[in-house]
Amino acid sequence: MDILPNFIVFEGGDGAGTSTQLNLLREKMEGRGRRFFPTFEPTNGPLGRVLRSALEGELTLKGETLAFLFAADRNEHLYGPGGVRERCREGAIVVSDRYVPSSLVYQGIDCGDELPQRLNEGFPAPQILFYFELDPLCALERIQGRGKQDLFEYREFQEKVCRRYQDILPRYRDAGVEVITINAAQPIETVAEAIWKVIAALL
Ligand code: TMP
Repeated sequence: MDILPNFIVFEGGDGAGTSTQLNLLREKMEGRGRRFFPTFEPTNGPLGRVLRSALEGELTLKGETLAFLFAADRNEHLYGPGGVRERCREGAIVVSDRYVPSSLVYQGIDCGDELPQRLNEGFPAPQILFYFELDPLCALERIQGRGKQDLFEYREFQEKVCRRYQDILPRYRDAGVEVITINAAQPIETVAEAIWKVIAALL
């Protein structure tokens, strides 16, 4: 697994708070003198938009089709103009809310391990992977509080998601990725501080 320096990824089950934390990090990074590029998958590019429609139930696609689309969206995200690789090479800190591990976990559950593994094996690994650990019941309460539920946001699926992350994280650790588990049940500010300690050390 090749590692892409300066690339950081937030991962976790639905409702674990990765998007909230990326927003807080964006605020903290302002005026720090180091370029910062917060980003996310599915992207807001054309393929990402198709994926969002499928996640929101406006479009019904087969699990395999989703696996292909997530990988294609990722290819653009990484290698397209102004993409992750280009920005990392320019020295920016790039933090993505979800990346390859989400496909290995979610599509692994949805359509088996082989296809997502094959589609994603050529993509580089991040330098740091934050795993937001949260009990699925607690996560689902948060999601229900938001009022709308996406394709994968139900209990049995999220329990599998938690177990699958535990299976795949050691692979990243063994490949030399710095894997940091964050207790996402803590107050938002405490989580933000834990993340900031790691990021600040890079500045
Ligand atoms: P989010 O924007 O709230 O993180 O939602 C994205 C959803 O898409 C979430 O349920 C995880 C799912 N997903 C996959 O199934 N595979 C992937 O490769 C990615 C990036 C996300």
